[in-house]
Amino acid sequence: MNKSIAIDGPSGAGKSTLSRMIAKRYGLIYVDTGAMYRTVGLYVLRNGTDSHDRGGVVSLLPDIHIGMRYDSAGVQRMLLNGEDVSEEIRLPAVSLYASDVSAMPEVRSFLLQMQRKLAEENSVIMDGRDIGTVVLPHAGLKIFLSASPEDRARRRYEELRLKGVETTPEDVFRDISYRDANDSSRAAAPLRAAEGAVILDTTGNTLEESFETISSLVQEYLNGGDE
Ligand code: DC
Repeated sequence: MNKSIAIDGPSGAGKSTLSRMIAKRYGLIYVDTGAMYRTVGLYVLRNGTDSHDRGGVVSLLPDIHIGMRYDSAGVQRMLLNGEDVSEEIRLPAVSLYASDVSAMPEVRSFLLQMQRKLAEENSVIMDGRDIGTVVLPHAGLKIFLSASPEDRARRRYEELRLKGVETTPEDVFRDISYRDANDSSRAAAPLRAAEGAVILDTTGNTLEESFETISSLVQEYLNGGDE
């Protein structure tokens, strides 16, 4: 039976870095669902459609074909109508579009099936905002990862700077605050901790400390039940 681990939390909490490390250590497939929302957001942005125009966004969905593949290093690559957009979807403008379109129930159900299918066919660690609450409510281990907005903005700024993206700490903090409010207040699958989730606040922790904490939870789960 395949194993499923759900990791939810706000932007910049370290979900993707930690999930990737856990996947590598335990031989799981890492599924980054934020990348799927980002790919939809990118299409909407390129199309010139307002990210709040629900009718406009929904009418674009039939034209969007999302593909995913894993490269030789096990890194998830995103394909938009066959084009590899893995780098472009990380741009700050796309983050805001992803957050806006992810509030639309039609966009959520468009991606839900793909997410569930991946977990049916593989043992996964999947991260996002609604994995433990909606996508994989029966996941054997659910973790809600958080950190203070200041810590999250600092980490995200550093990540963007290393990638050569031009931005400022103030802009990153503003974008994170916008997305926090958007992702938590929406009616469709808002960000919240699932029932039974282990809540981890990583404020002030090093990456290694958070990794060790999560590793021991994962180890216990993988050694335990057969869910
Ligand atoms: O994880 P991320 O920052 O790459 O996600 C981009 C946006 O997508 C985020 O602001 C909210 C949305 N999202 C979501 O609504 N549900 C998910 N499971 C994952 C992401």
